[in-house]
Amino acid sequence: MSYPDKVYLNGQIVNSDEAKVSVFDRGFIFGDGLYEVMVQINGKFFYKKEHLERLQSGLHKINIDFDTSQLSIGINDLLKASLLTDKDCILYIQITRGVAPRQHSFPSSIKPTVMMYAVPKVLPEINLVNAHVVTRKDFRWSRCDIKMTSLLGNVMLNEEAMQHECYETILHRNGMFTEASHSNLFFVKDGVVFTHKANEYILNGITRIVVIELCKTLGIEVRETAISFEDIESVDEAFLTGTSTQIAAIQKIDEHQLYTGNEKGPITKKLQEAFFKLK
Ligand code: PDD
Repeated sequence: MSYPDKVYLNGQIVNSDEAKVSVFDRGFIFGDGLYEVMVQINGKFFYKKEHLERLQSGLHKINIDFDTSQLSIGINDLLKASLLTDKDCILYIQITRGVAPRQHSFPSSIKPTVMMYAVPKVLPEINLVNAHVVTRKDFRWSRCDIKMTSLLGNVMLNEEAMQHECYETILHRNGMFTEASHSNLFFVKDGVVFTHKANEYILNGITRIVVIELCKTLGIEVRETAISFEDIESVDEAFLTGTSTQIAAIQKIDEHQLYTGNEKGPITKKLQEAFFKLK
């Protein structure tokens, strides 16, 4: 992975090695900020409106006064400068509360720091991964609905997967599966799709919302009900969703093998094909 040449910083396109942010930025000091990640596919951002709406709603939740409709011009300028207009790429947006002397309470007049970059990324038509995942206790805080830049919990939990040569870490809280370190989690049992409801224990992924809608369109019953850790042996299929993950089949959960080789569950396959058509 390499760094992008250009970044958007507070209204300007600058060379990334010359971009400067104060060490007193509250994003750096407290992780006091939000981010978004979206993909451009065939010249169009996939569910851009929904991503920007989630960012706007997150900003309201944490009291940062910034209107995300201001970003569109900057996004176009950034893509142009990055030679990515109409090209498949990933866009990262970060808005932190801004710069202030370090103290927990923030001044009301603070100006947010806005940074964006885009890097080329061609996603596969269908994610061919057959993921092995580990399970861990979800020790993160109770506002996982906020897409904040302070991702230490997610980073530590993701590292558990890396240490075990796995693709992801799936998380359980109070005995119920919530989501994964950087993606949402679905199960299939007796033909019904299950996923944790969108409350403060999960990030309500845009891909999650799209997949729930796809289930409805395809006539697959879907319930926003969590599966318990104890029930894991009885599920028929499991998969992950996320902006760059798209839909990834889970093959093995800890020592529990769901599928082998290139096999995957019929509902996972059906949803992957429908998701591909949507793109
Ligand atoms: N991660 N849950 C968590 C904890 C996530 O970090 C993500 C996304 C998702 C899926 O959300 P979406 O479908 O909107 O991408 C769920 C991103 C992309 C990241 O941190 O890079």
